[in-house]
Amino acid sequence: MSSNEPNPVLKAIADRRSNRGYKSDPLTQEQLDALLAAAMQSPSAGNRQPWHFSVVQSSAILADINRAASEAARKDLGDIFFGAPTVIFISCEPDGRWGRLDCGIAVENIALAAHALGLGSVILGMPEGAFNGPEGSSFNARLKFPPTHKYAVAIAVGVPTKTKEAHPLLEGRIDYIDG
Ligand SMILES: Cc1cc2nc3c(=O)[nH]c(=O)nc-3n(C[C@H](O)[C@H](O)[C@H](O)COP(=O)(O)O)c2cc1C
Repeated sequence: MSSNEPNPVLKAIADRRSNRGYKSDPLTQEQLDALLAAAMQSPSAGNRQPWHFSVVQSSAILADINRAASEAARKDLGDIFFGAPTVIFISCEPDGRWGRLDCGIAVENIALAAHALGLGSVILGMPEGAFNGPEGSSFNARLKFPPTHKYAVAIAVGVPTKTKEAHPLLEGRIDYIDG
């Protein structure tokens, strides 16, 4: 790689966006395998790998979670999955000190892998209400969360129809501490 070619990893980090609109085209198994390999290759505290990945491609299940999330929020949240054909739900062992942080690292690995494959993604906290509400244990079972695990975060993935500008980088978030 010559010095004036952008580093591909840094370029992927810079160019990734949250996409909030998708074609209904399903992902290929090869694409899914690559996303899940990237997820499983994430670092985790003590190498505990406290995550579980539920790959949901059923529009009926997504609609049920969307409805329950709106009910939990006591307002119509609209389509929280933005029409994506695939949503990966990450559930996590709730007791460890670093579990949710580990799951956050894994979800970013999925986002970057999706971008590297020419796909779009958006990380989703919004579904959480569905898992904390009266249907929570039913959703845990339908998504095959291990019995000890709880919802951590989700990510919608697909061929994007919408993109956005990069988010503005806020001032004052960096200090160098010298000497
Ligand atoms: C933990 C987490 C939860 C998020 N939850 C949602 C969500 O529920 N719905 C949504 O549209 N975007 C969600 N986002 C996306 C953020 O809004 C987005 O990352 C931020 O606005 C910056 O835009 P960018 O990702 O394009 O750089 C979430 C992001 C993170 C990291």
